[in-house]
Amino acid sequence: MRLLIIEDEKITRISLSDILKREGYEVYSAEDGEEGLATYKSMRPEVVITDLRLPKLGGMEVLQTVLSLDPRCKVILITAYATVDTAISSLKLGAFDYLTKPFSPEKLLSILRNITLLYSALAENAELKNRIEILEDKTIIGNSQIIQRLKETILQIAHNDSTVLIEGESGTGKELVARALHKASLRRDGSFVAVSCSSIPESLLESELFGHEKGAFTGAIRKHVGYFERANKGTLFIDDVDDFPLSMQVKLLRVIQEREFMPVGGNANVTIDVRIICATKIHLKKRVEEKLFREDLFYRLNIIPIRIPPLRERKEDIPLLVDHFFKKHRAEDKIMLLTHEIYNALKGHDWPGNVRELENIVERMIALSFSGTIDLSVLDLSEKKRGALLKENYGDYDSFDEFISKKEKEMLEWALDACQNNVTSAAKLLNIPRTTLNSKLSRLLPHLKIH
Ligand SMILES: Nc1ncnc2c1ncn2[C@@H]1O[C@H](COP(=O)(O)OP(=O)(O)OP(=O)(O)O)[C@@H](O)[C@H]1O
Ligand SMILES: [Mg+2]
Repeated sequence: MRLLIIEDEKITRISLSDILKREGYEVYSAEDGEEGLATYKSMRPEVVITDLRLPKLGGMEVLQTVLSLDPRCKVILITAYATVDTAISSLKLGAFDYLTKPFSPEKLLSILRNITLLYSALAENAELKNRIEILEDKTIIGNSQIIQRLKETILQIAHNDSTVLIEGESGTGKELVARALHKASLRRDGSFVAVSCSSIPESLLESELFGHEKGAFTGAIRKHVGYFERANKGTLFIDDVDDFPLSMQVKLLRVIQEREFMPVGGNANVTIDVRIICATKIHLKKRVEEKLFREDLFYRLNIIPIRIPPLRERKEDIPLLVDHFFKKHRAEDKIMLLTHEIYNALKGHDWPGNVRELENIVERMIALSFSGTIDLSVLDLSEKKRGALLKENYGDYDSFDEFISKKEKEMLEWALDACQNNVTSAAKLLNIPRTTLNSKLSRLLPHLKIH
């Protein structure tokens, strides 16, 4: 750390300077205000230690000028006892601290140690912010025509409030596109609220979406603000809209048309201003044909349809995506080790889990200290075969865990329903400890607010 001492008393100046140099600081010194400022401008030290009374230019002027040049600079004032008042007002002007003469060098060193700590905390903070930005990076990567066109469409439709329906297999980037739309719209300062229909039991969906008043039903111990209201002035992303229960679809249609709704147990309509973006993994029209989805609602949602093709239909995006994920997961230095053979091996896979699967594989490569070669078995490119076998025998389930979770969830929902959402009774009914039930609920049904 670089320090500048401005002090007209020669002995103090030299002895301070010696002490600080011995501590390892890079020290500059000046004997009056003008020389001090000139040194500051050329050396740009992080800390200025200045006497208050100085020839030519006083310490207060030095303080103000330095802070106007760099508000982050830390200025410590040295003052005689009689001028403590001035020193205190200097703090108001932005001085970091002050010392009254005579002071022990240890006192100054302790202030300097605090400044060092502060600087390292700030640096760490900046690093964390940067990291968060990388992790939350909403840029859509891809140089395929499909992705280029998708990005253009996003810019074209971001500004109007029409409902958008995004269709795409799991992991193709539906939520990413929805967030990008929100960020590109005039609503960007409002909230982006995501709700997944498939994770909310039908019996709770209405109060989760529209909120409820206190006492609206057994268990409604306080007023609850629903997803629609939370997204006011922003964007509501309704994921897995194909799972939206038929019985509730008319309510969704109404809120989309009227932009108002009635909370459960409420007596006045709530008006909202939200943009609605829905996502579906399956072709929604099919649900209409199966009479599981209202046709009028389908047309309302389908005003602007966006289809994100699976990754296997745009394999040319794979190299850019791989590089992007190496950066995102802090292995930027390893990108140069990626060869054509590796990209080609990755292009050889069909990616049933799409971009999410690719990202997981890249993370695994990095975790296994990627050094330029990959063992294809590590990449588990037989994933597709495994998936096919499971599908053949267990229809809708991608894994053992998914099957078990689904079954657990079903039973928990049933028990809660049977016990009017009373956890203690539900735990008794299931013959499991209440704590076990609670932890299962927070894992499997995290949105539930129960008592
Ligand atoms: N084109 C892309 N560029 C960069 N990252 C992407 C891209 N597409 C997807 N991703 C990343 O892949 C992961 C999965 O994307 P996302 O959650 O948006 O998929 P999804 O379609 O909503 O999946 P699901 O249907 O399973 O909910 C995220 O981490 C996302 O950032
Ligand atoms: Mg999603």
